[in-house]
Amino acid sequence: MAQKQTILVTGGTGYIGSHTTVELIEKGYNVVIIDNLSNSDKTVLDGIKKIIGTKPDFYQIDMCEPDAVKKIFEKHKDIKAVIHFAASKAVGESVEKPLKYYENNLISLIYLLKAMSECSINQLVFSSSCTVYGQPEELPVTENAPIQTANSPYGNTKQIAEEIIKDIIVSKAELNAVLLRYFNPIGAHPTAHIGELPNGVPNNLIPFITQTAAGIRKELKIFGDDYETPDGTAIRDYINVVDLAKAHVIAIERLLTSKNDRPLEIFNLGTGKGNSVLEMVKTFERATGISFPYTIVDRREGDIEQVWADTTYANEVLGWKAEIPLEETLISAWTWEKKIRNL
Ligand code: UD1
Repeated sequence: MAQKQTILVTGGTGYIGSHTTVELIEKGYNVVIIDNLSNSDKTVLDGIKKIIGTKPDFYQIDMCEPDAVKKIFEKHKDIKAVIHFAASKAVGESVEKPLKYYENNLISLIYLLKAMSECSINQLVFSSSCTVYGQPEELPVTENAPIQTANSPYGNTKQIAEEIIKDIIVSKAELNAVLLRYFNPIGAHPTAHIGELPNGVPNNLIPFITQTAAGIRKELKIFGDDYETPDGTAIRDYINVVDLAKAHVIAIERLLTSKNDRPLEIFNLGTGKGNSVLEMVKTFERATGISFPYTIVDRREGDIEQVWADTTYANEVLGWKAEIPLEETLISAWTWEKKIRNL
């Protein structure tokens, strides 16, 4: 690359944002991060520096302030594209605090899109979720599967955000967008310098498993073993966060070299393989040699039975495929947990 191109990464100190920042810098991009640090920590920047030798520019700003993002664009006139991760993501909390979610996830998006339009920055990668499919009728689920009524305000913010971006593109604005629908991102960077830092008691399966294995939680509660699945526990498509991060770099390259076929492209990002909760527990124990207590409890409200991705479209069009084996991913999550707990 002759001249380094600059990418704005919102939520860049977060879990997926930090891993994507590393992959972008490794591919020769400059990265400017904005984050309000509501669910992340500035020390993540030190972890990024340990991996790639430089710290990206960082601004602690709240995207719900109308002109905050515009000021960043005015300061960094070389920004060519935006990857928008910044959002609240706890499904349960969103049921209790819907307004927080609608404000945080949608007002910020609206201000971002306005600032992009005013500053003629037209390339956007948006962080969406397989939650938009609900419980699909057909598996694996393709990008053309119908969108179902969201079962949480969090899920609804992802659906509405997709609609907002689509509407702008329909309005013949200059915007080009790639919507990436993530399945279940897990694991940590192989160097263990960055990883997932959940706030308080983790909601998600893998941080709960690693914390239980570390002795911080008494036991893992498996939510339901009476699903219509081979072992009765729910099935998800668990994708390594580094594989996921790499797809963002490809999406950015595609936008910046005008290789996108249409102004709006949507891709599933998963492995294409489903694993049950029990399979995840057993694979973790086998890969790490660590056993931990678990018990079966009632289903968790709002959970779907099973979902995994059809990744054909991402494989063919992006030339991207998840590569890291599940065992390696689980070992990376465990290595990270041990590191942050000084074990
Ligand atoms: C949820 C959201 C998803 C969001 C993701 C990350 C939905 C439908 N999904 O995924 O959009 O991107 O969180 O925040 O809203 N489990 C246990 N015990 C635990 C924790 C989890 O058995 O202590 C089970 C769950 O019941 C589920 C699986 O493990 O079957 C994965 O759960 P989790 O990691 O929370 O992710 P999702 O609910 O799939």
